[in-house]
Amino acid sequence: ATIYVLNGPNLNLLGTREPEVYGRATLKDVEKLCRDAGQKHGFTVEFRQSNHEGQLVDWIQEAHAQQAAGIVINPAAYTHTSIAILDALLMGKAPTIEVHISNIHARDEFRRHSYVSKAAKAVICGFGVQGYVLAIDGIAAMIDTSKG
Ligand code: DQA
Repeated sequence: ATIYVLNGPNLNLLGTREPEVYGRATLKDVEKLCRDAGQKHGFTVEFRQSNHEGQLVDWIQEAHAQQAAGIVINPAAYTHTSIAILDALLMGKAPTIEVHISNIHARDEFRRHSYVSKAAKAVICGFGVQGYVLAIDGIAAMIDTSKG
């Protein structure tokens, strides 16, 4: 089974981008964390990042077409603006876990609303990059439970 881990705009600069908010780990480090977490549960991880909204929509559609076991998505700033990403996520059956590195509720008012949450099975924010690992562990637990 495959889990798609999708990252939105500016996350390519993780590690140097506002480190006091997002920490010092790079996106490569996050990819490694996700691959290790995936491996632990027997998942293949498709790890991607784009600064472009339409690219993220294409990848969400691809995840559905490939019958991904789950989608972990940090839509970054598109969280707060993108009906297109919401609509793409709503078309699939696999659980979507929305991840934010920072606690979006403790920051600017405009970060407190997420379009994407409407399509999310769960939302993780404020755990730093460890949130990605928690999301993958969570999908694994969810699948176990659904098997009874
Ligand atoms: C973010 C929070 C968003 O508000 C912001 O635009 C980001 C990153 C996070 O991971 O904390 O780019 O999604």
